[in-house]
Amino acid sequence: MNYFYEKKGEVFCESVALSKLASEFGTPLYVYSLAALQDHCQQYKTSFDSFPTEICYAVKANDNASILKEIFSLGFGADVVSQGELEKVLKVGLRATQVVYSGVGKSQREIERAVEVGVGVINVESVSELKLIQKVAQSKGRIVSINLRVNPNIDVKTNPYIATGLYQTKFGIADEALDELVPLLQNSSSVVLEGFACHIGSQILELKSFEQASLRILEIVQSFKSKGFPIQRVDMGGGLGIAYREGEVSPPISEYGKVMREHFKSTGLKLYLEPGRSIIGNAGVLLTEVIHTKVNREKHFTIVDAAMNDLIRPSLYDAYHSMGHVRTKNGPDCITDIVGPVCETGDFLGLGRTMVEPIPGDLLFIRSAGAYGFSMASNYNQRPRPAEVMVSDHKFWLIRKRESFETLWQQETL
Ligand code: LLP
Repeated sequence: MNYFYEKKGEVFCESVALSKLASEFGTPLYVYSLAALQDHCQQYKTSFDSFPTEICYAVKANDNASILKEIFSLGFGADVVSQGELEKVLKVGLRATQVVYSGVGKSQREIERAVEVGVGVINVESVSELKLIQKVAQSKGRIVSINLRVNPNIDVKTNPYIATGLYQTKFGIADEALDELVPLLQNSSSVVLEGFACHIGSQILELKSFEQASLRILEIVQSFKSKGFPIQRVDMGGGLGIAYREGEVSPPISEYGKVMREHFKSTGLKLYLEPGRSIIGNAGVLLTEVIHTKVNREKHFTIVDAAMNDLIRPSLYDAYHSMGHVRTKNGPDCITDIVGPVCETGDFLGLGRTMVEPIPGDLLFIRSAGAYGFSMASNYNQRPRPAEVMVSDHKFWLIRKRESFETLWQQETL
């Protein structure tokens, strides 16, 4: 189902013309479809219906409070990777027991807070971290339930910056090093090993990678069960990809569900998942206005008011986001680089795009910007971050105000 579509020469989000939102709230502007968000959550729920599953939304994908609130109201938990994310999900009203605390570098302060509030489980990423958790739990007289995050050394087809399941990345504990942990865990009164976790990467379009990871993790579970550990859950992380290009096909959530259920049925294990992008990625677009165009001997440039500070994925990962005119235009096509005002050659949103020649004042929309869009935005070049708007049918409302210049420097002292 497409929640962003063209009607009578204009692109709409649900029943609201994007041009209306631009004139009401200005640009750059993130626009989300509530129906798309609910649909993706519902697909997860249906795909894992009646299977013992805990779906913990990866907060880093988009941490807007209204979006979190909606996702939690549908029964999802949260996967957090910092104290900031933890505090935010608690503030939004999630119970600590529904939180999985992941992340490769949890500080003592962060672990103390996680133990104090009683998060459901901590995913442990190193021996050093395990020892710190034991120390903190002991000093607070608490017993902490943990998963060991393993690195199954699986080479997934995705951008190397977001592949996490190989030995050359910093993530998880190498599976061959796990045995070293056995004595530490067997003699621990403060930490109980109840599961294993892995997250092999993000934007994965091949389900076989998840199958490989599942098989590997099940072997590890067996070996630890046989050593007497009460293993009752497996956390398979996030990673399911979405379609970014016209015509690109991403595996349906239902297919992913089928594969996962197949591998974990009759194991008696509870399955944890941490999806981010597949929930919110295609529920959001970034709206931007053309400020100038120019040509030099080699190229045509369309300079828009959104930049790498608003959406860094093209600059950072060479990521492709499909884009187009908000109002259908007739006229000759041109091949143009869509670039922002930031003073970096790497500040582009799309290179060599064919579209009806844009002119200043035209509105463009950038698709699939809901995940890792606003959450990775910065104030580089002293640019206030965009506003965010939620649309539901004919209604729409601001879920984050545009930053003001004052907020840019309010933490600074002279
Ligand atoms: N769980 C863990 C432990 C993770 O590290 C991640 C993402 C997720 C879950 C959620 O993965 P997802 O379902 O969203 O693929 N900024 C990059 C993506 C970085 C992903 C980092 N970890 C991008 O814009 O493509």
